[in-house]
Amino acid sequence: MPNQLFRKKQIHVILREAQEGLSDAEGHASGLRKVLGVRDLTAMGIAAVIGAGIFSSIGKACFDGGPGVIFLYIFTAIACGFAALCYAEFASTVPVSGSAYTYSYVAFGEIFAWIIGWDLLMEYAIGNIAVAISWSDYFTGLLDKAGLAIPRWLTMDYTTAHHGFLEAGKLAAGTAPDAAIAERALAWTTAPSIGGLHLIFDLPALLIVALITRVVFIGIKESRSLSNIMVGIKLAVIFLVIVLGAYYAHPENWSPFTPNGLSGVLKGVSAVFFAYIGFDAISTTAEECKNPQRDLPRGMIWSLIICTILYVLLALVLTGMVSYKTLNVGDPLALIFEARGMPWISGIVAVSAIIATASVLLVFQLGQPRIWMAMSRDGLLPKIFSRLHPKYKTPSFSTIVTGLAVAIPAMFLNLDVVLALTSIGTLFAFVLVCAGVLVLRNQPNKPESKFKVPYVNGKFIVPALYLLAIVLILRFDPGHFRSTLTAEAFPMALFWIVATIVTVLSFVKSFSLIPVLGLTSCFYLMAQEHHSNWLRFLIWLGIGLVVYFTYGYRNSRLNQETLAGAGTP
Ligand code: ALA
Repeated sequence: MPNQLFRKKQIHVILREAQEGLSDAEGHASGLRKVLGVRDLTAMGIAAVIGAGIFSSIGKACFDGGPGVIFLYIFTAIACGFAALCYAEFASTVPVSGSAYTYSYVAFGEIFAWIIGWDLLMEYAIGNIAVAISWSDYFTGLLDKAGLAIPRWLTMDYTTAHHGFLEAGKLAAGTAPDAAIAERALAWTTAPSIGGLHLIFDLPALLIVALITRVVFIGIKESRSLSNIMVGIKLAVIFLVIVLGAYYAHPENWSPFTPNGLSGVLKGVSAVFFAYIGFDAISTTAEECKNPQRDLPRGMIWSLIICTILYVLLALVLTGMVSYKTLNVGDPLALIFEARGMPWISGIVAVSAIIATASVLLVFQLGQPRIWMAMSRDGLLPKIFSRLHPKYKTPSFSTIVTGLAVAIPAMFLNLDVVLALTSIGTLFAFVLVCAGVLVLRNQPNKPESKFKVPYVNGKFIVPALYLLAIVLILRFDPGHFRSTLTAEAFPMALFWIVATIVTVLSFVKSFSLIPVLGLTSCFYLMAQEHHSNWLRFLIWLGIGLVVYFTYGYRNSRLNQETLAGAGTP
């Protein structure tokens, strides 16, 4: 059995199965439509990346880190860039829909593939729950401004309303709660109740997910057209914000540049990383690309470069137009213009935030069913998950299940929890993809790939960087290693274990530098996550393993093939 857990799929088998269109439950040879080119892929990458992270969570990151948060944006972009190059190599080697799931099947074997497939649910489905909740925040805010307010108990989750109510109750008599707390308390007190249970849920989040799921269900062409339009609008508005912001910025707001030091800057890790998630999602459309091996790497890397430049400029503009201390709000881009007496621009920004966030939803709603489709083809999920719609040629059942899996929790869950889970889950996928490139490179029959991560020998560079990091830490943060021995510091301790193993292996096996840097920088970002978030993440993976051993292990196609082979005389 242990060997079976690490059974690997051969690339030529994966490509053949995808080609055969095994996904059609009726047995028709039918494939997905190949319509995407490099421009569409770049646009889809931008569609998936620029959303709630930059229209909303950037405010808190600037508030914590001050203008110096741009260093976090740059560091995160570099970490994502290494991972993007590794994704690109895999996408060009195994151009099928499963993304990191399929890559892990090739590099590490079935159990890892399952773990990463299950983990990707966190990036796509749980990520979309976060995006849908953010969308609803902007949307209800806009309705309020237009004088069309809907009852508060239809606009948020139960926990948020309950906390708001408790916080309002704690205030001294005569003290007015701030607007956000007052709104949450109002949701609680005005909600109808059934048997004592307050009926509170996020209706706009449900409706937007239903709408987007409908588009994704109908077809890839329709999704592409809508995504291209939305990207055009959001880029235009972001340019407007940057140009006006540069004009109205007060350079004195940039001093001090890092008012809360490194720890203040690092507080924004989840939010900043969340803002970059998405460039990898386009790899799930590999079977719908005209030339995936050439175009997918280009699409991913272009979208990452464009978004990084925009993010750094936006962070500078935000912290230049107003004091970073005023930015702890959910709609910082709108706020800076309101604060400077330009409410009409603030209105335009709010409308475009709704469009931008909807485009993220679209790409992730597109990605999740395609990963399930790949898992179902391999027998790890029931066959119906890879069924294609006879007319629309989209994975219809998976698309509907994704819609339900996102829409229903989006009505009830709290934004902070789902945002942190999305970040840790995605970072884990990045770590495995970088590690996968190292493993593939060291296999005897290296598969052919049109795009390869440039090879720089890490034999001496990696140990030198490792030692340099230790010297710098001992010099500037001498308590670091002592504090990694506490339970709270478990993630950091794990980071050092992984970093040490990778360093030794780099020396022994002359590992390629870029995947090693991708792996360690993404793991470092993971180690910054709170240990409670790690616990939730590990519980999630544990549940996944139970599902695998009760269904996937026995029904795996590789298992069936082994049994069939054993039965043949
Ligand atoms: N990067 C995406 C966003 O910020 C997930 O909404």
